[in-house]
Amino acid sequence: MKIAVVNGPNLNFLGIREPGIYGNDTYEDLVRIVGNHGSELNCELEFFQSNGEGTIIDFLQKCYYEKVDGIIINPGAYTHYSYAIRDAIESIKIPTVEVHLSNIHKREGFRSVSVVKEVCIHQIYGKKIEGYLEAIDFLLERHNND
Ligand code: DQA
Repeated sequence: MKIAVVNGPNLNFLGIREPGIYGNDTYEDLVRIVGNHGSELNCELEFFQSNGEGTIIDFLQKCYYEKVDGIIINPGAYTHYSYAIRDAIESIKIPTVEVHLSNIHKREGFRSVSVVKEVCIHQIYGKKIEGYLEAIDFLLERHNND
């Protein structure tokens, strides 16, 4: 199974950015930990991070052409207002799990709104990097039951 792991703006700053909220692990740690989990389960993972909305959309469209089986996306702050990313997820028709490191439902009010939620098959939040591992398991189980 081929899964793309997409991280949006400021997630390259993990470990530097508000460690009390996002943890001390860096983006490189995230890639290593999530990558190891994928390898153990024989999943082919592709990691992508961008601070730009258009580049994220270009990558999602590339996933369509490359027939990726599943997507894990943490759109960062775009979660809360990017209808363009929402539309991209809807149009590619690839099962997508939305992941957030922090508990977006227990922070500022604007963070509890996700405009991508309804086009994703599942939303995971507040479990730090563990949430990405859970997302792989969720996509695998769904794929194997198809
Ligand atoms: C985040 C939550 C967002 O509100 C925030 O803008 C982020 C990270 C998370 O992983 O908890 O950049 O998506």
